[in-house]
Formats: sequence, structure tokens, C-alpha cells
Amino acid sequence: MRLGKRVTELLGIDYPIVQGGMAWVAEAELAAAVSNGGGLGIVAAASMPPELLDKELKKVRALTDRPFGVNIMLMSPTASDAIEVAAANRVPVATTGAGSPGKVLERLKPLGTKVVPVVPTTALARRVERQGADAVIVEGCEAGGHIGELTTMVATPLVVDAVDIPVIAAGGIADGRGMAAAFALGAEGVQIGTRFVCSSECRVHENYKLAILNAKDRSSAVTGRPTGHPVRCIRNKLTSQFDHMEISGASVEDIEALGAGKLRAAVVDGDVDFGSVMAGQIAAMVSRIQPASEIIEEICREAEEVLSRLGSLK
Ligand SMILES: Cc1cc2nc3c(=O)[nH]c(=O)nc-3n(C[C@H](O)[C@H](O)[C@H](O)COP(=O)(O)O)c2cc1C
Repeated sequence: MRLGKRVTELLGIDYPIVQGGMAWVAEAELAAAVSNGGGLGIVAAASMPPELLDKELKKVRALTDRPFGVNIMLMSPTASDAIEVAAANRVPVATTGAGSPGKVLERLKPLGTKVVPVVPTTALARRVERQGADAVIVEGCEAGGHIGELTTMVATPLVVDAVDIPVIAAGGIADGRGMAAAFALGAEGVQIGTRFVCSSECRVHENYKLAILNAKDRSSAVTGRPTGHPVRCIRNKLTSQFDHMEISGASVEDIEALGAGKLRAAVVDGDVDFGSVMAGQIAAMVSRIQPASEIIEEICREAEEVLSRLGSLK
């Protein structure tokens, strides 16, 4: 692909599409399918025990000879273990979420791992560039999962102007129009989460995929704002419980307790009523389950069509 050359060359991939690291969702099968499709597949370390992460990374290696990555959630109690497992497996790329990635850069960069932190603000983007990050992923609050304050539309050009390293846009991108828009804002790649949940290779419970396929434009809700760690998911009985607690002034501890284990309940048990069905606003546009490689090709083809159509406008 002609688009996003700095990103494809940096990561050794064919298309400038990175699959979002997604706790409980982004396992070896999905990561390998995305990498085999020419994008960058990512295994989410989240709070996985180190032995399990090691197994997942070895499984990706067995399923693909293409580059892949690991996503390390810096606020997780297992983050230090995840860094060591990534080092032992000589993982080609590491993305990081929720915090300052100093330790990851220090430990993994000398081993040749490309480190690409997720940043919600220009200040963090500038800091990680100074620390040696190879690129940044700027994630807007349209995204599924833990979110910041700024939208992709606003955060992307701000971060593009703030740093010289390549910027990958995330949040609210699920088709070629979204990818073309991200490039128009100065991004050189995109990270996609929600649409890949609905890939054939993603092993979440069928109910989870159906909840995304059935989502409409107002199906998205944000839970846990008072805790300082807001999460975007699909509106359901759990999000109503959060609303009631927040309106009645419940304590941060009680609100946090309500969220505990709820992503697992949705992903593994298929409890889409009382589980946390993390997904972005763009869920409303996801209408089919397809192989990851088809998703990647379709999005890139559409993006090139959109951009060449705009390019030919007089
Ligand atoms: C179910 C789910 C779990 C997620 N977990 C993580 C995570 O563990 N670490 C992380 O950095 N981002 C996480 N994210 C964010 C994604 O990596 C990605 O940036 C986001 O989904 C992009 O926005 P989109 O959903 O609109 O495509 C998660 C997203 C979802 C939907």
C-alpha cells in the first residue's frame, strides 16, 4: 500500500493497520490472523498471568511468521512481568496503555522491539518521543475500553503537530472513510479495535459479537467516570446500574467494585446484560463478521478510493 509508508516500514507490515490490544479479547488467534492479513496483530497482556502470556506469544509465533506485538497495560499489577515475558520472547513490537511507558522503553528498545505507546494527550506524546518511542497511537474517546477526554478528530492533528515520529490514530475508525479521515488529519496509520472483535478469528463469546452487530448510534455508554478510569461499552443493565450508583453519589470504591470481573463475564460467559461489553461508538457501523484479512483489505481499498476521489476534485 502506498499510504502510511513510515508506519509500514517501521513495523514491517503491508498495510498501516494495527489491531488494538484488547484485554480478554486480543488473543493469539486474532493477533496471528491480523498479522497474516498484512496488518499488525497484537496480544493484550492486560492482567494475564505471565505463564499464560508466554504461551500466547509462542502461539502467535507458531501461527505466523509476520511481525506482531504485545500490548502492556502499565497500570496492571502484572505489567513488570509482562515486560519480562515480552523481552524473553523478543516480541517485535510493544504498545502500551494507561500510563508512562518509561520502563518498557528502557527494557525492550535495546532488544530491538519497536515501542509504540498509546497517548491521549499532546503532553504525553511529546514526553514519550523524548524518551525514544518509535511512534505513538493517539486514541480518541470514541474508542471502546478505557478512554481519555479528547475526540480522535481533535487529538489526532494536535498530536501530529506536537511530534515528529509517526502518529497512528485510534478510536472510531472501522471503514475506509474513517481511515482516509485519519490520514487527512495527518495520521500515518490507524489502530482498530471494535471492528476486529467481529472478525471470524476473534474468540469472544458469540453474544458479545451480536451485541456489537446489533448496536445503533446511541448504544454506546461510558461507565465509571467518578473513578477517574472511564470505560466505553455497549449500554445494558450493567450500565444502568452504574448510572444509578453515580446519580445516588455512591463511593468510588463501590463503583469500582461493580466493574470488577465484568469484562470477563461478557467475553467468556457471554453475559451481555450484566457484563461489560466494551466497544466503541463505531459499533453502530459494524454489520458483519468477516475474516480479519478481509476486513483489512476492504478498509484499505475503500480508503484509497476515498482519497483518490478527493484528490481528483478540482
Ligand atoms: C474490549 C476492548 C478491550 C480493550 N482493552 C485494551 C487494553 O487492554 N489495552 C489498551 O491499550 N487498549 C485497550 N482497548 C482499546 C483498543 O486497543 C483500541 O485502541 C480501541 O478499541 C480503538 O477504538 P475502536 O474501538 O473505536 O476501534 C480495548 C478496547 C476494547 C474494545
